Amino acid sequence: MKKLEEYVRSIPDFPQEGIIFRDVTSVLEDADGMHLAIDTMQDLVKDLEFDVVVGAESRGFIFGAPIAYNLHKPFALIRKKGKLPCETVSQEYSLEYGTAVIEMHKTSIKPGQKVLIVDDLIATGGTTQAMISLVERLGGEVAGVLVLIELAGLKGREAIAGYRLDSAIVYE
Ligand code: PRP
Ligand code: ADE
Ligand code: MG
Repeated sequence: MKKLEEYVRSIPDFPQEGIIFRDVTSVLEDADGMHLAIDTMQDLVKDLEFDVVVGAESRGFIFGAPIAYNLHKPFALIRKKGKLPCETVSQEYSLEYGTAVIEMHKTSIKPGQKVLIVDDLIATGGTTQAMISLVERLGGEVAGVLVLIELAGLKGREAIAGYRLDSAIVYE
């Protein structure tokens, strides 16, 4: 049986020189890899209480939705700007490479709900900070953040200090 990290492909200098891209397509394209990824992530939060799983477009959907499904929790979407049809809250943020705006329907979180934020990867933590901000502006309480991959050198954990972060694989 292969270890989880062996399913992740690393591509140097993508999408820019100096970035090592940690590619999850190689995890997802292997049935064992995908099962191991979802099962490992779910296991990390087995002690955590939450009402809703929130995932961010695009790669956050892939990992968030099956975890929500398995645990019989609702799944709320955070999308890139301009994709959601109803009233939204928006948040601008910076990425390891560039800036972006994400949005969430105002009705996706009910005040007081406990939220598990799921993404494929935390790098600088900019995306996660923006997701936390959206959830909190809607009155939600962030119970924890769960990712498949943490790029520890980019200090995302420090960027969201005070929030629980669980990661299945850590790269220095
Ligand atoms: C990637 C990744 C995380 C984020 C992490 O998403 O999926 O969401 O970057 O980087 P950060 O911690 O520095 O914010 P990206 O916005 O590239 O888009 P995608 O999920 O649609 O591929
Ligand atoms: N998102 C932000 N930084 C990334 C990286 N180094 N690899 C894969 N996805 C990323
Ligand atoms: Mg993403």
